[in-house]
Amino acid sequence: MSKVKWTKEQMQAIEEKGSNILVAAAAGSGKTAVLVERIIHKIINEKIDIDKMLVVTFTNAAASEMRERVLKAIYKKIEEEPENAYLQRQITLLPKANISTIHSFCLDVIRNNFYEIDIPSNFRVADTAEISLLKQETLDDLFEKKYEENDEDFSSLLDLYTNYKGDETLQNLVLTIYGFIQSSPFPQTWLEEKIAMFEEVEGITDFGETIWGKIILENVKEKIEETIIGLKDLENSLSKYDELALFTRNSSRR
Ligand SMILES: Nc1ncnc2c1ncn2[C@@H]1O[C@H](COP(=O)(O)OP(=O)(O)OP(=O)(O)O)[C@@H](O)[C@H]1O
Ligand SMILES: [Mg+2]
Repeated sequence: MSKVKWTKEQMQAIEEKGSNILVAAAAGSGKTAVLVERIIHKIINEKIDIDKMLVVTFTNAAASEMRERVLKAIYKKIEEEPENAYLQRQITLLPKANISTIHSFCLDVIRNNFYEIDIPSNFRVADTAEISLLKQETLDDLFEKKYEENDEDFSSLLDLYTNYKGDETLQNLVLTIYGFIQSSPFPQTWLEEKIAMFEEVEGITDFGETIWGKIILENVKEKIEETIIGLKDLENSLSKYDELALFTRNSSRR
């Protein structure tokens, strides 16, 4: 098989060290090939065993593809250097190499360190339906408790966000916020920061001066600017027609 001739950029992505690298390229342009070559390069040039690397992907299919392609690439190198025992060793190490989805890697970390975070050793990952039920149950219990306590803050929240049909709107809002903050590395901190914003606006009477007001005004400004550009374009196209041109001239005189 002929050797791949890597482009300059690919070469750079293969050899670069000591910094984070982001490789973005079109579909089928050789991202996985570069990543595989980068791994092989580390094995050969830096003498790092394959089981000392962490290779994570988003899907199981991508992880299998990766493992298969790394294996193929190692075999190819062995063809070039049949005596290289070091390369041959990588074949035996490959089955226990950490080439997996990011989820399965995280699960491994938790499984091997369950005692550190105080969870039972026989924990398991819930499926989506189970999680959804658990969330709803928790939310129902919480709302029940708040109703019983006659919590004043809770009552005002209900007044603001519920309608005559019930408290579903508020429940959904809580779930949406929960879902949203889960993608933040520190959900609780995120919430606390947002709550602190309410304190910062104390005393401000003009909504436009608040953090949210400024964002809304900025958005509205952008929308208006876009609309003006659109209208100008329209005016230009209309001005090509005599009858309509007269109209646009008249209307802009006002
Ligand atoms: N410089 C190159 N010269 C010749 N062939 C190349 C080169 N770079 C990549 N290829 C080949 O292009 C094909 C597609 O590469 P690869 O699967 O790595 O792309 P990808 O960017 O990961 O694709 P996808 O977006 O589908 O994941 C492979 O057969 C690979 O060997
Ligand atoms: Mg790919």
